[in-house]
Amino acid sequence: MDPIIQDQKATELFQAHTHLHSQMFNYINSMSLMCAAQLGIPDIIHNHGRPITLPHLVSALHIAPNKTSIIYRLMRMLVHSGFFATTKAANGQGEGEEEAYVLTPPSQLLVKDNTNCLSPFMSLINPAFVTPWLSLGDWFRGNEPTAFEHAYGMAFWEYHNQNPELNRLFNEAMACDSQMMNLVIRDCKPIFEGLNSMVDVGGGTGSLSRIISEAFPHMNCTVLELPQVITNLEGTKNLNYVGGDMFQHIPSADAVLLKLIFHGWSDEDCLKILKKCKEAISSKEKGGKVIIVDVVIDEKKDEKELTETKLLFDMLMMVVAAGKERSVKEWEKLFLEAGFSHYKITPLFGLRSLIEVYP
Ligand SMILES: C[S@@+](CC[C@H](N)C(=O)[O-])C[C@H]1O[C@@H](n2cnc3c(N)ncnc32)[C@H](O)[C@@H]1O
Repeated sequence: MDPIIQDQKATELFQAHTHLHSQMFNYINSMSLMCAAQLGIPDIIHNHGRPITLPHLVSALHIAPNKTSIIYRLMRMLVHSGFFATTKAANGQGEGEEEAYVLTPPSQLLVKDNTNCLSPFMSLINPAFVTPWLSLGDWFRGNEPTAFEHAYGMAFWEYHNQNPELNRLFNEAMACDSQMMNLVIRDCKPIFEGLNSMVDVGGGTGSLSRIISEAFPHMNCTVLELPQVITNLEGTKNLNYVGGDMFQHIPSADAVLLKLIFHGWSDEDCLKILKKCKEAISSKEKGGKVIIVDVVIDEKKDEKELTETKLLFDMLMMVVAAGKERSVKEWEKLFLEAGFSHYKITPLFGLRSLIEVYP
């Protein structure tokens, strides 16, 4: 073989070798991030009030003495993946500057003082959620509808019902996710204006309904949820909680809101839920509609990282709940089959879009 061609082949193979290893060990990125959250590093940097040098970081961390000399490796990894950045800072002894760590926008989202703190979401990287991924191949060969059921012998929500601590962690994760809606609710005012009542179906502990009920004090909001999620929760003047099953009955209202519900269910189940929504909302003339906050896959328009994140969620939904992330075409098919006449998609929230569906 021509030696140049052989060299090219070798170069390609070594690039492939790097790519393979990078993908194989990608979970180390998640685990490193989780470790930083467990050690409270984002809060330590935030509370320091200025860039923090390695010795200062080490002294603020409660780690064993034989680990202090290796923490820089965790930090180096997380600087590389964009969770922290480095800058130069005075070394405190009036002798020039040394390298120091600062937060980046993604790690600011893990600071507990922030209104938009997503650190409870990190608790979803736990053995209960990770275990089903270890036997995906076996699951594909078997008959169980989800890898979650393959691993635990029961569906996701049933498992939550039987594991109150996991249920609590999940609800807290969802609540902080919904809390981020406070950033956009002002831009969404026209969507809620004119509505006197709204049911937030599968609304978790009511984090989003609370934001909406405060922004629109004249509107009565109801959170419809599984009883185990809303035990001991108290409503307000215009927010109340109702225990129930969205497959059985959705209380009547001008509008029904569903955030991150449909992506957790198969097309067949989504149709059942959509039909219940249609029964629950007011007529077209009275402004009745279904408001959906969920993922819309658009590989042509979205940037690579956005699509990749949506595809990760799609795989997650496949593994835990027989759900899926949908393209515009797939959403449209569902709406039309459920008897709705038209819809409008507004891509507002990074990963999520807002979809209004009309009878
Ligand atoms: C992914 S979470 C979304 C929670 C909330 N909408 C949010 O985005 O923060 C899905 C929610 O659906 C609820 N759920 C599951 N099955 C349900 C049912 N049959 N009826 C009502 N709610 C249900 C779960 O308890 C869970 O809180």
